[in-house]
Amino acid sequence: MKKIGLTLQQQRDIYRDGFVVLSNIIPQEMVNAARREINMNLGDVRAGAMGAENLSDIKTATKTLERVGSDKVILDLFNNTDVKKTVEAFFGRRIKPAAVAQLAIPFPQKPGENVNESGYHDKDTPFYGWCGHLDGLWNGGDRIPEIGKELTPHRRHKWYSDPSRNGCYRTYDQNCNVHNFTALVGIALSDQTIEGCGNLGLLKGAHHRIGEFFQQQRDAGGPLGPDGPGWKREHTEAPNGHGLRHYPEQVRAAFRKDALQTTDGRYWPKPTLVKVRAGDALIVHFATPHSVTRVQGPDPRFMVYFRASAPRKEAHLQVYPDALCDIWLEWRGMQNFVKEHDAKERRRKEFAIS
Ligand SMILES: [Fe+2]
Repeated sequence: MKKIGLTLQQQRDIYRDGFVVLSNIIPQEMVNAARREINMNLGDVRAGAMGAENLSDIKTATKTLERVGSDKVILDLFNNTDVKKTVEAFFGRRIKPAAVAQLAIPFPQKPGENVNESGYHDKDTPFYGWCGHLDGLWNGGDRIPEIGKELTPHRRHKWYSDPSRNGCYRTYDQNCNVHNFTALVGIALSDQTIEGCGNLGLLKGAHHRIGEFFQQQRDAGGPLGPDGPGWKREHTEAPNGHGLRHYPEQVRAAFRKDALQTTDGRYWPKPTLVKVRAGDALIVHFATPHSVTRVQGPDPRFMVYFRASAPRKEAHLQVYPDALCDIWLEWRGMQNFVKEHDAKERRRKEFAIS
């Protein structure tokens, strides 16, 4: 089997930015086969919904699309290309083949009245509605509370239930409230070369701050994550009273330089809207806040996501607090680079002092 080595540039990119783009890494025929599979199933969903006689028929039709995430033509994008080998080079170890993928296909939308996880109207949220988040966080047991309406006791009970809509819990064991993995891997099946086409938005370089923050939480006795020291889970001043803080305020405040403000004075950090072409892949460090952005162009955006974890001991399969505090712990292929970088930094500081 051909072994993949990391280039210095790839190591620099992931170290500095928290993500790296692997250009043109998927053969075009695989991209086309995957997009065809998705489109065929979207067609089936439409046909199923049009022929539906009741709600259950519509639910069955939408399930069609969920199954595509475990179709071989989709899984091959990761398992049988250089993407998996590159991820393994970063982790310094072999990993299991992916068994499921997330299809992320936002369609064109007007800046709308819908309320996002931050508790604001989408139309009022800067940067194409970007609400950065870390994965693996509880995101409410019920649909997002509306603006201008108190939750009824019934809805309140549902909102605070576990698990949340994304399957996460508010608390886990090991004094940690984050279900963490190692890297988010995105594969572009459509060109995303201009802003506003539904680009993935990333808070470039924030992974360093996130790691420092988790370390501070641990030093303060934990738990790590929301509801832990310095991280109130809900932003009650948000318009809907239940905005979810999906990364800490301290990190948000560190990115004020290019941020925009909403009328209530809240700052919204400027994400990097990633530009990729169909056939490119992205490896994103778990600690990099990320989110989709609104599609203002004419076409839906096609991305497929895989969640990759370096091999872990049984006890750490769901939560691995050490990897939150030491962001390179599971990136063994990066450890020499990080060591050299840290040594250079130390020498630079010593030189500056003397
Ligand atoms: Fe995510």
